[in-house]
Amino acid sequence: MYTAAILTVSDRSFRGERPDEAGPLAASLLEGAGYRVIETALVPDEQPDIEAALIRLADEVRAALVVTTGGTGFSPRDVTPEATAAVCPRMVPGIPETMRAASLAVTPRAMLSRAAAGIRGGSLIVNLPGSPKAVRENLEAVLPTLEHGLRMLLGGPADCASTF
Ligand code: MTE
Repeated sequence: MYTAAILTVSDRSFRGERPDEAGPLAASLLEGAGYRVIETALVPDEQPDIEAALIRLADEVRAALVVTTGGTGFSPRDVTPEATAAVCPRMVPGIPETMRAASLAVTPRAMLSRAAAGIRGGSLIVNLPGSPKAVRENLEAVLPTLEHGLRMLLGGPADCASTF
């Protein structure tokens, strides 16, 4: 069982103007997949705040999987991918590529998500869009395969050939 943390990035939820539905949904999907959610956090769409939260969740909370929701679109305040890239020495482009490929079957607007994923120490950070619908569709596209990546990252049997 791997640990997970959820970071909701939303100005409106941070100001209390809109309840955070995406974060709790991501938490329940991860719990349903066998993760132990050890922390949830909420920050506004400010790159320094997002970076600080990601560093804390990776380096102090030490969650194996850190999932963000929100701030991946085109609005000038959508900077979650930039914050993620700034704190991750190694990027994992295949995860957002897979999410966008699966999501394009649902909506052409999937191409508008700039979501990124990367590795910081022993944590895999994965961006998701902000709407609950998009959280479900994107997470379901990659969840079955993330565990194999976490095994490679954190140790344990991760022989690629033996899993087919
Ligand atoms: N992906 C899926 N699977 N389903 C969706 O409804 N919405 C898209 C896209 N990805 C969507 C999706 C839309 S409309 C936008 S603008 C981008 O995600 C970015 O969303 P964000 O700004 O909330 O992060």
